[in-house]
Amino acid sequence: MVKIFGHRGAAGTYPENTMPSFRAAEQLGADGIELDVQLSKDGTVVVIHDETVNRTTNGRGRVNSYTYEELSRLDASHSFYKKTGFCSIPSLEEVLRWLQGTQLLINVELKNNKLPYRGLEESVIHLLRKYELEPRAVLSSFHHASMVKCRELAPDIETAVLYKRGPHKPWEYAQKLGAGAIHPNYAYIADPVVELTLAHGIAVRPYTVNKEKYMRKLMRLQVTGIVTDYPEVARRVLQEE
Ligand code: G3P
Ligand code: CA
Repeated sequence: MVKIFGHRGAAGTYPENTMPSFRAAEQLGADGIELDVQLSKDGTVVVIHDETVNRTTNGRGRVNSYTYEELSRLDASHSFYKKTGFCSIPSLEEVLRWLQGTQLLINVELKNNKLPYRGLEESVIHLLRKYELEPRAVLSSFHHASMVKCRELAPDIETAVLYKRGPHKPWEYAQKLGAGAIHPNYAYIADPVVELTLAHGIAVRPYTVNKEKYMRKLMRLQVTGIVTDYPEVARRVLQEE
């Protein structure tokens, strides 16, 4: 059965990468959540998509120029199109503590393809182990060397290579890197490539699939999962298929 991952929680209807968004994803029928992590100035793993706080919060500047305490005072609902009231930037630990009490899967995207963030891999793995979430987790990144490092550090945690336009034979590439999955942009992956990748035992979870038409197409191909801003739509489409 195709697993539905709420992108940044339920980012279509709640401020992305916030606790209300993650809770909503669960209530809207997601099997799992996807979130993005960066490091604060004092080395806390924080859940935010961009390297700066400019787009999503009422602050300015780089995430890694703020301590976690300073970051948690910023309003992550600031730029959302609907008024929702204050939402903080959560730490990964806060999300995992909550997630432990649910049945949800988790896709942690390490946002280390622009800034190096030394020690991010070790910190994320440590937290997943602390909350015993290894069997429910997949680590992903556009920085594929980081996924190789994660694999070496934690062979028991699945890794995924994340990309927009991928290699010709992504299953061979994934196998070479020890990755169990590819996370391609749904718009650039051809149906036969999906089928061949799955046939080679590599999981396929395309992102970010928000239109019913493409959800249906991918569900018929029996992809492992889809990442969507609208888990409620994906749940309905899956029930109809
Ligand atoms: O997990 C895939 C997707 O989240 C990657 O793109 O920019 O939304 O982090 P982005
Ligand atoms: Ca992401």
